[in-house]
Amino acid sequence: MPDKLEDIAPFDLVVFGGTGDLAHRKLLPALYHREQDNLIPEGARIIAVSRRPFSDEQYRDWARENLKEHLSEPCDHILERFLNRICYVSVNVRENLGWQDLSAKLAGFENRTRAFYLSVSPDFFGPICAALGEHNLVTENCRVTIEKPIGKSGTTARLLNETIGAVFKEDQIFRIDHYLGKETVQNLMALRFANVLFEPLWNAAHIDHIQISVAETLGVEGRGGYYDTAGAMRDMVQNHLLQLLCLVAMEPPESMAADSVRDEKLKVLKALKPLDPASVETNTVRGQYRSGASSEGGAVKSYLDDLGAKSSQTETFVAAKLEIANWRWAGVPFYMRTGKRLAKRVSEIVIQFRQLPHSIFPATAGQLASNKLVIRLQPDEGVKMQVMIKAPGPGNMRLKEVPLDMSFAEAFQVRNPDAYERLLGDIIRGNQTLFMRRDEVEAAWNWVDPILEQWASDPRPPRGYTAGTWGPSSSIALIERDGRTWHDDENECC
Ligand code: BG6
Repeated sequence: MPDKLEDIAPFDLVVFGGTGDLAHRKLLPALYHREQDNLIPEGARIIAVSRRPFSDEQYRDWARENLKEHLSEPCDHILERFLNRICYVSVNVRENLGWQDLSAKLAGFENRTRAFYLSVSPDFFGPICAALGEHNLVTENCRVTIEKPIGKSGTTARLLNETIGAVFKEDQIFRIDHYLGKETVQNLMALRFANVLFEPLWNAAHIDHIQISVAETLGVEGRGGYYDTAGAMRDMVQNHLLQLLCLVAMEPPESMAADSVRDEKLKVLKALKPLDPASVETNTVRGQYRSGASSEGGAVKSYLDDLGAKSSQTETFVAAKLEIANWRWAGVPFYMRTGKRLAKRVSEIVIQFRQLPHSIFPATAGQLASNKLVIRLQPDEGVKMQVMIKAPGPGNMRLKEVPLDMSFAEAFQVRNPDAYERLLGDIIRGNQTLFMRRDEVEAAWNWVDPILEQWASDPRPPRGYTAGTWGPSSSIALIERDGRTWHDDENECC
């Protein structure tokens, strides 16, 4: 159901990292859009927190400038109404200063929904939660949101979950994975569970393999400090790609209730076949971009130059072949790949159906291509089904592969909300369906950890790839040695 203002009670949203990159690029613009859509009730407050010694007015000036940079044609009076909700408190977490000021700001509002959003380095998650507990700021109707990556391994994730869990109950903890808030990711559930067509075919008997690609053209964009400690496996695969895989592979949940969906996703993660050291070698590829050219043709620096470092073992590209050891998916490979500085920005899920068991058509009719469903997450969100038809015209039967193509932008002429708009709304309403539960995060690490350990023990550097290409050639080999190819729209017929 779309959000309705009357369903939303006034709340306090406290954003730690209020002057940081995420607040600037995503959170403030998303909140502005909720204001614009009249989804922030009278009296709701946004309390930005960071170290800088800003007054309310100085922070609002900073936010105004940032929003003007990020929004296309913001409306002045909506912008001012929005800014007037924002106040600012300076807290220095490292030095443990400023908590009294935050307590004073929140005093008297204990009965309303209070949401803490920790848009800060994960090193601060534990200290902030502990301080919130010590200063009695954790109320009954309170929640905390943390950004991925949750930990750097299963062990550190468990520790972090313990620390946060000492202060907040599991149903108060919102572990955000913004991919789950994307419109087309939601549509994946609608496609599977709101149509009778696909579910009977959604299994090993009819599906040959599945591909999940999240390709970026950008490099590390000034986030090298963080990125070099994470790499593509921790930054993208452990969370975004494995979450997409869960939504594709899970059994139909009982309902859309948070735990029904999350129980099913957890079963998928638990059924992932672990990779032993020898299979890490054959089933994964890690790469790092060298200098090259962007899709527009401009020169692009290497990862090491972007980082300003002489050497780094950090991977900016990962491809992997996964297996889900359960009844539905036995023998169906899932190929995934993600990387920075690739040839094209595209995120998509490709369901490749099996060949027909028998053709009734003569050889002159041409090759029968098997059906393929392409779910395009971004850009140009949509769903495309490749089907065979008869080529028009008289004469012999000739078959042709054509797309049944549905572009969301063309079908619905409405603004596509950013994932953060939906997720912020869910946090306020207390709906955890699109947030990762503790056991999901830990199960995802169980699959990732042995790979990272194997890579760490391997003295060979990640394979180099030229910026602006599709990654190391071994990632092409990963799928081609199974007689399959990565989907590329440009190679499709029609
Ligand atoms: C973030 C990663 O979670 O997702 C970034 O930390 C990545 O490295 C980003 O660029 C991609 O998100 P989107 O929504 O632009 O596909």
